[in-house]
Amino acid sequence: MQNVFPGEVFANTADFDTGIRQLLPRYDEMLEVITRCLPSTSRRILELGCGTSELSLKILNQCPHAQVIALDYSPRMLQFAQEKITAAGYQQRWTGIQADFGDWANNPESLDIGSEFDACVSSLAIHHLQDEMKLKLFERIAASLTQEGCFWNADPTLPESPALAEVYKAAREEWAVQQGISLTEIRAKRGASSTQGYSSQDQLASLDAHLQMLSKAGFQTVAVPWKYYGLAVFGGWL
Ligand SMILES: C[S@@+](CC[C@H](N)C(=O)[O-])C[C@H]1O[C@@H](n2cnc3c(N)ncnc32)[C@H](O)[C@@H]1O
Repeated sequence: MQNVFPGEVFANTADFDTGIRQLLPRYDEMLEVITRCLPSTSRRILELGCGTSELSLKILNQCPHAQVIALDYSPRMLQFAQEKITAAGYQQRWTGIQADFGDWANNPESLDIGSEFDACVSSLAIHHLQDEMKLKLFERIAASLTQEGCFWNADPTLPESPALAEVYKAAREEWAVQQGISLTEIRAKRGASSTQGYSSQDQLASLDAHLQMLSKAGFQTVAVPWKYYGLAVFGGWL
């Protein structure tokens, strides 16, 4: 099996955009919730773990004045993202940077991206960090936002009980079948991943633990604008 970084998911990067929509229920809706939570006047937006740029593209469509600084540590994902951004004509408003956001959390000087972001966003990436690093990252994000800044993250969360873990699993199976494929068939396209930098395979935390970390990091208002079985969009404002 081809080795990939945690979060790249598929052995072949070109399979990501279709595969993730089969693997996860309501992927587009989840990303759209993030874009709706952003002020449309946002000018500087930081994205962590941009992957193939699906969230970036939605944001660039929704926020006409925004410049997106997009971090990802995978050169394959960044290259794929850059091609899509260029094809969509957004190359002047999007900068892809190859970096580990765990490094940035620990040592902000290592990355010359500045601060004063109107918003920070992320989807399906931060759950690869251990909880201690999630908190550090949330603190770094809080320190990098303007006074009115907001942060929105979409991620899988730890099921609240074993019974609910079964319910969430069944919902994903059913979703895949509705897409005309089984989870086993989708999973056959996955790559094998081990630890890379600060990320490893899923390091899920409960939704409650995430909200507590956000408060501890300095977010005054924390919210969960969307939850669908084990997936959630959560974040807030300083
Ligand atoms: C599942 S993909 C999600 C991509 C995109 N946000 C989306 O929702 O389609 C996760 C991405 O996070 C990146 N990633 C994971 N851990 C990272 C880290 N520590 N630093 C930078 N990028 C990371 C992976 O390379 C991958 O592109």
